Formats: sequence, C-alpha cells, structure tokens
Amino acid sequence: MPTLKAVLGLETSCDETAAALVDEGRIVRASVVSSQIDLHARYGGVVPEIASRAHLELIGPVVAEAFESAGSTLNAVDAVAACSGPGLAGALLVGVTAAKALALVAGVPYVGVNHLEAHLYGAWLQNPDLKLPVVMLLVSGGHTLLVAVDGRGKYRVLGETVDDAAGEAFDKVARLLGFGYPGGPEVDRHARIGSPTAVDFPRAMRGSLNFSFAGLKTAVALHLREHPEVLTSEFGVDDIAASFQAAAVDQLREKLAAAADMVNATTLVLGGGVAANSALRSSVVELAETTGRDALLAPLELCTDNAAMIAAAGWWRLQSDGPTPLSAGIDPSARLPGSTP
Ligand code: KG4
Ligand code: ZN
Repeated sequence: MPTLKAVLGLETSCDETAAALVDEGRIVRASVVSSQIDLHARYGGVVPEIASRAHLELIGPVVAEAFESAGSTLNAVDAVAACSGPGLAGALLVGVTAAKALALVAGVPYVGVNHLEAHLYGAWLQNPDLKLPVVMLLVSGGHTLLVAVDGRGKYRVLGETVDDAAGEAFDKVARLLGFGYPGGPEVDRHARIGSPTAVDFPRAMRGSLNFSFAGLKTAVALHLREHPEVLTSEFGVDDIAASFQAAAVDQLREKLAAAADMVNATTLVLGGGVAANSALRSSVVELAETTGRDALLAPLELCTDNAAMIAAAGWWRLQSDGPTPLSAGIDPSARLPGSTP
C-alpha cells in the first residue's frame, strides 16, 4: 500500500458535525466540531430527524473550515475516514456518503470507522507506543464499556452497562435537577460547589465488572420526591449533583480497578464524553498513582465526539485492514470490532 500520511476524518453519528485532518494517526492539524446542542436543547435530547438535516447543512462548511485551519486542501489528503456506526442511521449516512464522495473526487481510499474504537484513539493518539495490555474505561452518552486492549484491533469487553449508559445517567439526573441539556457538564459544574457526602446514594453492581445506573437515577428521583425543598434551597441541587456524581464515579472507579488487576494492565485509559468529568479524571489519575500504573486520559477536546479520533482510528485501520469498499454501508448498532459480546 502507498504511504499514507494525511487522513481527513468525518464524524456525524449523533449531534456533532465534525471534520479533522490528522497526520500519521497522531498529529492533529485541524479539528472542527460544530455542535447542534442549541437545536436539540428545547426537546431535552437529540431528535434524529433534526440531527440528519443539520448534518447535511453543516458538513460542507465544517470540512471547508478544517482545510482552512490546517492550511491544506483535498489534494493533500491520502485517505478519507468516516464514522460508520454505531449511531443514528440518518446521521451516519450523511458523514459516510460525504466521505465516499470526497474519496472518489480525490482518488484516495475510503475507510469506515467504528465510533467506539475511535473513542479509544481519542486517548491513544497521544501515546501510540503505549505498552500493552491496557484497560480502557469508555464512558459516553450511549455506551459504558470496560475493555482490555491486547493489541490494535484486539479487544476484550470485560464489562458493560446492564441498563443506562453513564452519560445517560448524568443527563437524566441533570433533567431532574432542572439543569440544561446536555446535563453532564452542568452536573460537573454544580458538583464542584456541593458536598459529595450530603446524600449517600447507592454504589451499584458490587463484585461484578458490569455497570448499572438506572437504580442510582431512581434513588435521586425518590430523594427529590421526598425532599422537594432541596430544589429551591441554597446549595440543594449542588449537594445532590455532587452526591450523585460521587456514587457514579465510585462505581466506575471500582470496576476499572478490578479490571486493571485482572488483566495486569500497564495503563488506565479513559475516553468518551463522560471522560471530560473532572471528578472522574482525578479519580482515575489517583487510582493509577496508588496502584503504580500510568493513566492516559483523552484530552478534553477529544473526549466528546470529534473527528480527530475518527481520522486517527481510520489511519490505523487502513494499515491493518486496507480500504473499506465503497459498497459498504453503515451499521447503526455496531459493537466494538473484534470483541466478544
Ligand atoms: O462521547 P459523547 O460526546 O457522545 C456519545 O458518543 O454518546 O458523550 C456525550 C455524553 C453526554 O451524556 C454528556 O452529558 C456527557 O458525555 N458529558 C459529561 C461531561 N461532558 C460531557 N458527563 C459528565 N461530566 C462532564 N463534564
Ligand atoms: Zn461518542
């Protein structure tokens, strides 16, 4: 295969339209993310039809901005990568179709990228020579996975959520507390002011590597029903946000610690939108320090959905598997490739 350097990545799986130019799977030359948060905020969640239409309008300008900010053009691109799943079908189709068209025009390969694998690369692109095995905690709005990474493309799913994803729980609790959408960053902000020990919310699924957040969310709802005054008292919502966050982070940390021991991991890797949470970041760094491991956290701008992680994962997939045929479609319910259910 000819030498590949510059990959253009596109991400349109949910409510972010993103394009990035990444060299050699690690050097981010431009990463543009256009969030549709304002369009979906009044509905309290992502509306698939609105998302697809917005992607259609935004994908052209976002790609143009990525080229402008990198001082580059389509002629200098060696491959085009796009997220092909999991995600919203109509939204995925926009990015994949645009990527195939751009690849055809430029006469370069197209590569379809799994969104979950890409979140791993949001962290891994910082240190591609990482000594394996590592354990990754992938926490986003749609997924909560504990993964042993034995090699590139060699994954073992050690645990996953049996109900809500971690980000979903943050968003639902935020709604109960009257915060805006998306709720995760708001819970994080209020939790900095509140007391994490104000309410002792349950730590679920002790003794298992699987996660559960539905009971924790219900416990918050029941507490608010019994104590409606906290919604209007000074620091009331801050205390609930901090106490919920402490219970969620404790659960994530406990399972990450057990998984790291199980596979004798060199490094704890954290990625996905919830990896932007300040309490979770400190907890993982502290866990790594106390157990003599390294911590590799996706930088904040590469935690939530972005296209730099797609371009990086695409670069590596091209090395291992070669181009994806243009006849390949999308897979809205794709699992992490190479992993056992
Ligand atoms: O990875 P992502 O952008 O999209 C998916 O692939 O799902 O993750 C979005 C999720 C949302 O649930 C959002 O509330 C959460 O990440 N999130 C956070 C924080 N920033 C984003 N959750 C907790 N604390 C944060 N600071
Ligand atoms: Zn994501």
